[in-house]
Amino acid sequence: MFVLEGVGKTFANGFVALRDLHLRIAPGERVALLGPSGAGKTTLLRLLNATLRPTAGRLTIAGLDSRHLHGKRLRQVRRTIGTIYQQYNLVPRLRVVHNVLAGHLGRWSGWRAALSLLHPLQLDTAVAALQHVGLADRLWQRTDQLSGGEQQRVAIARVLVQDPAVILADEPVASLDPGLAEGIVRLLVDLAVQRQKTLVVSLHHVPLARAYFPRLLALQQGRLVYDGPPQGLSAAAWQALFAEAPLPAAAERAHVRPVTAFPL
Ligand SMILES: Nc1ncnc2c1ncn2[C@@H]1O[C@H](COP(=O)(O)OP(=O)(O)OP(=O)(O)O)[C@@H](O)[C@H]1O
Ligand SMILES: [Mg+2]
Repeated sequence: MFVLEGVGKTFANGFVALRDLHLRIAPGERVALLGPSGAGKTTLLRLLNATLRPTAGRLTIAGLDSRHLHGKRLRQVRRTIGTIYQQYNLVPRLRVVHNVLAGHLGRWSGWRAALSLLHPLQLDTAVAALQHVGLADRLWQRTDQLSGGEQQRVAIARVLVQDPAVILADEPVASLDPGLAEGIVRLLVDLAVQRQKTLVVSLHHVPLARAYFPRLLALQQGRLVYDGPPQGLSAAAWQALFAEAPLPAAAERAHVRPVTAFPL
């Protein structure tokens, strides 16, 4: 699904966010992306969903070289990749059904997409997606009346409607309390397994990553410092890897108290 050969990303201001990444992610793989704040996790996910391009090396997405993705082909590739963000990216004032059906926006023409926001055209699709995430009874509720965990599940339902081959999730549980966080991670993993999706999730929480993902990638200052199964590193080694994590920025954004960056 993804092949990275010596991929690097230097931003316009000269900051090197990623350097010399070599890795392959096969269709159907489930991968957790770990690393301290600023390590380059979001940047890597944005390369994978083709909203950023590498400035060094070669990235192929489903066999297509990202350097040659423009116009129609770029839109096609983006449609096959669904991204879930920490802050849900939902329109708060809209009803749940409209946010869920927005998963179609990449596929529908402008007028049909606009119409769908007024008159949900595919109610059955929305209901099915919401059933999957346990929110079928919330179809007509205003999205901003839902709790954080429920809104994240609406965001997942929207990705189900999009039905991409790949689901990328950037710290999807960072704003949630630990009990809810585990439920959301389990939901994502179950969906990926059932529907044979490729899943790449960035997480701050090492135990969740170790429990639910067969493959972990760890980034530190833009370099890949680990790529392997959870058992490949002991809990102590993980702690050491991130011991100097500059954690307050991430913790602040996540509205959690920075006790330890990576509770083990
Ligand atoms: N557009 C940009 N221009 C310059 N520097 C950037 C830009 N975007 C990100 N960076 C820098 O690149 C580094 C990696 O950022 P990135 O957002 O990928 O980190 P992260 O691992 O996702 O961190 P966090 O856990 O806090 O979300 C950071 O130091 C960040 O400040
Ligand atoms: Mg990030």
